[in-house]
Amino acid sequence: MVIAFSSDHAGWRLKAELMATARARGHEVVDLGVNSDDSVDYPDMAEALARALAEGRAQMGVLICGTGIGISIAANRHRHVRAALCHDVTTARYARLHNDANVLALGARTTGPEVARDCLLTFLDTPFEGGRHARRVAKLSGTPAPAEGA
Ligand code: RB5
Repeated sequence: MVIAFSSDHAGWRLKAELMATARARGHEVVDLGVNSDDSVDYPDMAEALARALAEGRAQMGVLICGTGIGISIAANRHRHVRAALCHDVTTARYARLHNDANVLALGARTTGPEVARDCLLTFLDTPFEGGRHARRVAKLSGTPAPAEGA
């Protein structure tokens, strides 16, 4: 799978660590920046990731800012993006199982590197459960609801 990574200045160090983790798992990585402490605006970094997904340059994404809040809010303004701000493996697992999240959002100032790594691995390894959740996820993007499920 190709995974795009994007962060602001608060998240780029954690981004570098997580890109290495993804590569070690055999994934291809697209680095959308940034790679320094120079201040940038998180909506711009979310925009870059949304574009990469829309253009098919990646199937999944990881977004990181200080808290993960601003960058996930920005990303979720795009209908094709389902960004989940996760703080532990449980939220990462359900983000995939129930929400079919295609973007993992993390806070570099609020989540330690080891937990962030566990979140990433769980996110990548967990499939979407489908069924009744497919109907709900379809409603998120305004696409016709699948008939199945209760
Ligand atoms: C940048 O200082 C910080 O505001 C940003 O990384 C993020 O936490 C916003 O939600």
